[in-house]
Amino acid sequence: MEQILQQIDTHKEEITAFSAQTPEQVEEFRIKYLGTKGLVKAIMGEMRNVPNERKKEFGQVLNDFKLFVEEKYESLRQSNTREAKGTSAQIDWSLPGDPITAGTRHPLNIVRNQIVSIFKRLGFAVAEGPEIEDDWHNFGAMNLPEDHPARDMQDTFYISQNPSWLLRTHTSSVQARVMETQKPPIRVICPGRVYRNETISARAHCFFHQVEGLYVDENVSFADLKQTLYFFVQEMFGNDVKVRFRPSYFPFTEPSAEMDISCLICKGKGCNICKHTGWVEILGSGMVHPNVLDNFGIDSNKYTGFAFGMGVERITQLKYQVNDLRLYSQNDVRFLKQFTGVV
Ligand code: PHE
Repeated sequence: MEQILQQIDTHKEEITAFSAQTPEQVEEFRIKYLGTKGLVKAIMGEMRNVPNERKKEFGQVLNDFKLFVEEKYESLRQSNTREAKGTSAQIDWSLPGDPITAGTRHPLNIVRNQIVSIFKRLGFAVAEGPEIEDDWHNFGAMNLPEDHPARDMQDTFYISQNPSWLLRTHTSSVQARVMETQKPPIRVICPGRVYRNETISARAHCFFHQVEGLYVDENVSFADLKQTLYFFVQEMFGNDVKVRFRPSYFPFTEPSAEMDISCLICKGKGCNICKHTGWVEILGSGMVHPNVLDNFGIDSNKYTGFAFGMGVERITQLKYQVNDLRLYSQNDVRFLKQFTGVV
């Protein structure tokens, strides 16, 4: 017993005097003292031979010793990491640095942000809604009851555990979410991702992006709709671009129109982007159907509104002449790098 206590004292002196120059020497220290076959373990084993009445006192000494060794190890370790070793004298400051490659914004986000900022200047606020929607917000509330034939154009993915949940087919569902919670005047812009059950090709994808707009107030007219969208197009594409409205049909707007802009790629002469017509469709629009307003307790005799929904991919395609939709989601850096510096 006394002998062991003496041994411990000698080891302590030895350990205090120990110094390491390399991480390898620190590791040797660890193995010698703290390893499974190390000294601390071995001395702990001596506990068995200690008479019961001295076990407490001896245990205390052993614990202190263990802590002592562990602290020494920790301090050796900290002063011997590779970084700690690199004093300024050893670093060659003239070496070239590691380049930090800056990412780029995704082209769809660049264009979405541009669209949103134009409408913000007109007093539109941003609203968002969930991508997993229920049937009511995506279809029912938008005047597309079950079995309505217009649902066929927007087949989507249903959640099999609950067939009334689906991946939203358009951002018009956010119109429903906004009218549910806000009273007119309402002026919102709703960017987001939408889904449809389409076979993936250069021209179609099972998900894409839209920006929806909704304006509900007293005396909102079709002239307001046209002027707002005309302003948007000029801000987005410049003063030379022409627009045209074609009558169309959407269950949630009446009357409805699709808006085309003159093809920016061929300047209206005809190319394969505009299918040789000189015009490219960029959005659907119309006056909010009275049924939709009534669905949310907004008095359709007092209030009118307009709405529109545009495809972000299509607008990006025109701005950057991207002719395959799949490029947007393939994460190919050769494509993405071309947008370096655009914010
Ligand atoms: N939701 C329509 C679509 O996805 C676009 C649209 C929005 C049309 C708002 C009219 C008004 O095709």
